[in-house]
Amino acid sequence: MNREDFPLLSEDIIYLDNSATSLKPKCVINKMNEYYEKYPANAHRGDYDLSFKVDQEYENTRELVKKFINAKYLEEVVFTSGATESLNMIVNGFFANYLEKDDEVLITTSEHASNVLPWFRLVKKLGIKVKYIPLDDHYYVTLDNVKKMINNKTKVISIAGITNVIGDERPIKEITKLAHDNNIFVVVDGAQMVPHIKVDVKDLDIDFLAFSGHKMCGPTGIGVLYGKKELLEHLEPINLGGGMNESFDNPDEVILKELPTRLEAGTPNIAGVIGLGEAIKYLNNIGLDKIIEQEHKLRKYLIDKLIPIKHIDIINIESDSGIVAFNVDKVFSQDVAYFLNKYNICVRAGNHCAKILKSSVGVTNTVRVSLYFYNTYEEIDNLVMLLSDYEKIVKEMI
Ligand code: ALA
Repeated sequence: MNREDFPLLSEDIIYLDNSATSLKPKCVINKMNEYYEKYPANAHRGDYDLSFKVDQEYENTRELVKKFINAKYLEEVVFTSGATESLNMIVNGFFANYLEKDDEVLITTSEHASNVLPWFRLVKKLGIKVKYIPLDDHYYVTLDNVKKMINNKTKVISIAGITNVIGDERPIKEITKLAHDNNIFVVVDGAQMVPHIKVDVKDLDIDFLAFSGHKMCGPTGIGVLYGKKELLEHLEPINLGGGMNESFDNPDEVILKELPTRLEAGTPNIAGVIGLGEAIKYLNNIGLDKIIEQEHKLRKYLIDKLIPIKHIDIINIESDSGIVAFNVDKVFSQDVAYFLNKYNICVRAGNHCAKILKSSVGVTNTVRVSLYFYNTYEEIDNLVMLLSDYEKIVKEMI
């Protein structure tokens, strides 16, 4: 669906690595070029028409993001370089000042490095404890397992909305209800969720949300930090510099600007912000419902074709997203990826930055196919045809 919008798809290539990054439609590329060609001024700094135009486009994206995730206030939308920076800001700017020794943060073993390493640092710096919500037999998070982990030391639950290897969708609304009943904050890593399902931060009652533009048809280097306004007010800026301050006569008289500007120091990724706005318009025009439906159909088609192949071990037969992780019997996952690459098929192999998942799943590396709405049944047929031929894989893999 909508394949004609993506320049790369006119080439002889099968792109199945959408969880790493999605393809970019022509309208997003054009919009970014428009900025560089027609109004390449800085944002929030100029008193001339070109700069006003930049401000208008930049703030228009903030409005689009606000509507896209149904935030209550514009100030709750902060532009960052991506989900990684957003999560680091949340942990180091807010929780580093809030948590104390022996406080507990609940995560899972399927979290991406960006939602593990910042917490690990607080373990070292503050003496907090990171605990893991046990996963069920399908590597899912259940509300019961979250309940079992909560005690009076639990202060934060920080989990992905959809994980990047298992592809499971977490029951965020139920988790935030349980968490808030126990005075616990909920941080959601939305990198794999926001591009693929409708996210309503008010309805889900999420405290902090992080996501990236580049996995949702937008540019690289741009992302969003959402936080409830009353919490963002207490998020200490990690970056200090131009644009975010009112005045600084001496160290005792530093006055910062209001939200969200206070958290966007320096010249921002203006083309990225403007491109993200265009990506959101693009996704809205297609409709997230259609995107979800198409991904589910494609996933089912792929899984149904992979299940009968005896030399393929699927890690996440049960999953809610377009992510399918598997291994080929006795073949290293990266060798499978190299083999597929010979046929112009792009998949990701390895641990996918989810390096502690091995303790739950029992394997370190997998081949990961991640689908998006522009993939086709024919592409899946081609993939499956190659994966079915074990002798060919072994013969040609290097
Ligand atoms: N986090 C991205 C992935 O899962 C890069 O591939």
